[in-house]
Amino acid sequence: MSETLQKLLTELEHFGQQNDAAVSERPRRMLNITRDTGEFLSVLVQATNAQRVLEIGTSNGYSTLWLAQAAKTISGHVTTVELSDFKLEMAARNFERSGLSDVITQHQGEAGGLLESLDDACFDLVFLDSKRSDYVQWWPNIQRVLRKGGLLVVDNATSHADEMAAFMAKVAADPNFTTCTVPVGNGEFLATAVR
Ligand SMILES: C[S@@+](CC[C@H](N)C(=O)[O-])C[C@H]1O[C@@H](n2cnc3c(N)ncnc32)[C@H](O)[C@@H]1O
Repeated sequence: MSETLQKLLTELEHFGQQNDAAVSERPRRMLNITRDTGEFLSVLVQATNAQRVLEIGTSNGYSTLWLAQAAKTISGHVTTVELSDFKLEMAARNFERSGLSDVITQHQGEAGGLLESLDDACFDLVFLDSKRSDYVQWWPNIQRVLRKGGLLVVDNATSHADEMAAFMAKVAADPNFTTCTVPVGNGEFLATAVR
């Protein structure tokens, strides 16, 4: 990883922590993944050769940068969707600064609508870090856009276990998926499409 990107990630970590400690309105909080989750995502992208990555919930782009720097090493690309214009613009500035804009496509809008519009099996890895109450209703389209053998990673599996329970139970009960929860950061729920 370049020194410029390391510095930017460190700056965003400090910004996110200070901002989220000072701001109570959820739409203005960054709610970034932890650094060790970023490192974990980076390894997953490279180890699984996930060249087509979809992220749901960009915020200001901290997690996207981890995904994108990993995707770049394998000639991959990250598509990321965010509802908030305010956060989308912050992310765009961070992507410019990172030098990774060429491997990132940003979508502004509601992720459910984007998922509806996507082709079958068009992503190798989906990273889900959005409003947890939407996940169960998005599940049919998440399954559809993930290629066989692809990987779903969902943040907050342990930090918000109650809110995640219904979704995780649904995926775990699906015979087409193998699942586990990894105790890194806020807990990552992993599911791979076996067929
Ligand atoms: C937990 S934050 C994402 C943090 C980001 N992944 C990171 O680690 O830097 C969740 C984001 O999802 C966005 N969001 C919530 N519901 C959404 C929806 N239906 N479609 C798209 N984005 C949504 C919120 O605006 C918020 O920025």
